[in-house]
Amino acid sequence: MRLIFINLFLLFHIALSFELIKPIPENLPVNDKKAQLGKLLFHDPILSKDKKVSCFSCHDIYNKCGTDHRKFSKGFNGLEGTANALTVYNAVFNFRLFWNSRAKDLKEQVFFVLQNPREMNISKEEAEKRINSHSFYKKKFKEVYGVNYVTADMIADAIAEFEKTLITPDSKFDLYLKGKVKLSPDEEKGLKLFKRYGCITCHNGINFGGNSFQKFGAVIPYKWKPYFPDRYQITKKEYDKNVYRVPSLRNVECTYPYFHDGSAKTLEEAVRKMAYHNLGIELTDKETMYIVKFLKTLTGKLKIK
Ligand code: HEC
Ligand code: HEC
Repeated sequence: MRLIFINLFLLFHIALSFELIKPIPENLPVNDKKAQLGKLLFHDPILSKDKKVSCFSCHDIYNKCGTDHRKFSKGFNGLEGTANALTVYNAVFNFRLFWNSRAKDLKEQVFFVLQNPREMNISKEEAEKRINSHSFYKKKFKEVYGVNYVTADMIADAIAEFEKTLITPDSKFDLYLKGKVKLSPDEEKGLKLFKRYGCITCHNGINFGGNSFQKFGAVIPYKWKPYFPDRYQITKKEYDKNVYRVPSLRNVECTYPYFHDGSAKTLEEAVRKMAYHNLGIELTDKETMYIVKFLKTLTGKLKIK
C-alpha cells in the first residue's frame, strides 16, 4: 500500500513537471559588452584565492562541452569537490542551478562558486578588491557599467551574461523537430524507446531535464552518501535523499563521466543504470544502443561568441 502511495505521488509529481520538448534557439538576447567582459572573467584565475583556478578550469567550453571530464573536479589547492561537474552549456535554460538547485539563477550561482573553499575560495570583498585594483578591469567595468567602483554583483552579472551565450543550437534532433532532417532508423527506434519506457517523463522541456527534481533510484534504490549535493542537504527531509535536479541531456554524448558521483564512465552504462534504477527495466544491448544513438542526436553546435 505504502509503495502504491509513493508511486502515485511520484507519477503525480512527474505529470505536473512535464514540459514539451522545444529546440534550442539560435541566439538569446544578450548585452554583448557585458558578455565579452564576462568571458574574460570566466577564463581569468584572478577570481580564485591562489590565482590558479578559473571557471574555465572546470568548465572547458572548447574541448570538453563545458565540463572537465573528471569524476570530481579539482579546485583550490588541488582539492577535490564532492560532485561531478555539470556543464555550463544551456545552463541558462535550467529552472534552478546545481545538482540540488541551491542557486536560483546564473548570477547567484557565481557567488556560490567563488566562496566555495574547494573551488575558488574567495570572499565577495576580496573579489571586489582584486578587480578594483586591476587597471584593465576597472577601465572595462567603467565602460560597460559606467561605475568607478566595481561590486561583486557586477562581476557575477557579467559572468552570467556570458553564460547566456553558451547555448548549443542546431543539434540533429532540433533540426529534426524543425522538419529539416530525418533521424536514421536506429535513432528513431531510440526516440521511441525513450518515450515508451518513460525516460521522457523526467527528461523533457527544452533541455531534456533541468526542470524538475527527481529521485535517483525512483524504483530500485541507489546507494546514498551524505556528502553528495542532493535535496536532502537543503531540506533534511528523508524523502529527499538522492533527489536531484534532473540533469539536461543536451550534449550528453560529451559530458562524461555521468551522474552526481561521476560513477558511469560511458553513456551506455549511464542509460542502463537509469533504466534499471528509475524505471525498473533491464535494457537489452540493442535497446541500449538505440537509445544511445538517439541521445547522440542531442549534440548541438558549441557556439562561442
Ligand atoms: C573546481 C571546479 C569548478 C570551478 C572552478 C567552477 N565550477 Fe562550476 N561547477 C563545478 C561543479 C562540480 C558543479 C556541480 C556542483 C553541484 O551541483 O553541487 C558546477 C556547477 C556549475 C553550474 C550549474 C550548472 C547546472 O546545470 O546547474 C554552473 C552554471 C557553473 N558551474 C558555472 C561556473 C562558473 C561561472 C564558474 C566561475 C565563476 C565556475 N562554475 C567555477 C565545478 C566548478
Ligand atoms: C524518475 C525520473 C527519471 C527517469 C524516468 C529517467 N531519468 Fe535519467 N536522470 C534522472 C535523474 C534524477 C538523474 C540524475 C541522477 C544522479 O546523478 O543522481 C538522471 C540522469 C541521467 C543521465 C546522466 C546525465 C549526466 O549528465 O550525468 C542520463 C544519461 C539519463 N538520466 C538518461 C535517462 C534515460 C535514457 C532514461 C530512460 C531509460 C532515463 N534517464 C529515465 C531522472 C530520471
